[in-house]
Amino acid sequence: MNSALQHYLTTCQARVEAALENRLPSNNILPQKLHEAMRYSVLNGGKRMRPLLTYCTGKTLGINPETLDGVACAVEFIHVYSLIHDDLPAMDDDDLRRGKPTCHKAFDEATAILAGDGLQALAFEILAHDSAITASPEARLKMITLLAKASGSQGMVGGQAIDLESVGRQLNLPELENMHIHKTGALIRASVNLATLTIADVDPAIATKLDNYAKCIGLSFQVKDDILDEESDTTTLGKTQGKDKDNNKPTYPALLGLVGAKQKAQELHERAIENLSIFGAEADLLRELSLYIIQRNH
Ligand code: IPE
Ligand code: IPE
Ligand code: MG
Ligand code: MG
Ligand code: MG
Repeated sequence: MNSALQHYLTTCQARVEAALENRLPSNNILPQKLHEAMRYSVLNGGKRMRPLLTYCTGKTLGINPETLDGVACAVEFIHVYSLIHDDLPAMDDDDLRRGKPTCHKAFDEATAILAGDGLQALAFEILAHDSAITASPEARLKMITLLAKASGSQGMVGGQAIDLESVGRQLNLPELENMHIHKTGALIRASVNLATLTIADVDPAIATKLDNYAKCIGLSFQVKDDILDEESDTTTLGKTQGKDKDNNKPTYPALLGLVGAKQKAQELHERAIENLSIFGAEADLLRELSLYIIQRNH
């Protein structure tokens, strides 16, 4: 990773850790077990890629990072909720997440379901009320609508439904792409577009370019996740390697082979970069982030 991105990433990670901590109910508020489970699942060393995307989009547009803390947390809370539910026995049945027992293993299944539910509601509460967000009431409403659509049955949740329906089936490329665009791409796209929405008078041409960039990296993110499931190891990943094959999931490497999947990730990265050509150095972090997404090892 380039050192400017590494430095920015470290700064942003510290920023988002504090922001998440501040917004989570403390362990001593009732019901204690539920709040412990929410904190356990959020404050456990995720890469914070979605908040980072929000801050890097903000940097490209000249937005003060302080006004993005609420948005960054809302997106991460939705993401963590999706991970808790994704790991449940009824879904991927995983025991390990971010190098630790999954929420339902550390607590119990009912608590894990409720912790996910609680985080989802908290995300929307933040968009509606968080004082760090300085946008107008109209803009807040647009943000709430955007995140609801990105996470709902025509976004992430819809993608997860397609994923579960597809177990053991051979999907063709457009079907696989559609699944990935929804289950992972939608929330990544929202991480970028929520930052854009915090500016009242953003140039629509700029917003479209950023959205197109986000579509490309949203897909490359899941292509790389599929590749890592196949060729990384459990310790590096912090989640069980080889789980997609065990669960008979349709993935990019299963359809295109590892070489074909890597080529696809590279093509998506190049398309992402092309969409940033209207920007100068102010978009360098977004460029680096796209490269990081396809080169990361976990
Ligand atoms: C994993 O997401 C699940 C997908 C949507 C592919 P991340 O790789 O961002 O997981 P964390 O947040 O770093 O644990
Ligand atoms: C998960 O995809 C996408 C979500 C919406 C959580 P995966 O099932 O491939 O994610 P991991 O590999 O368990 O993190
Ligand atoms: Mg899954
Ligand atoms: Mg999974
Ligand atoms: Mg995976």
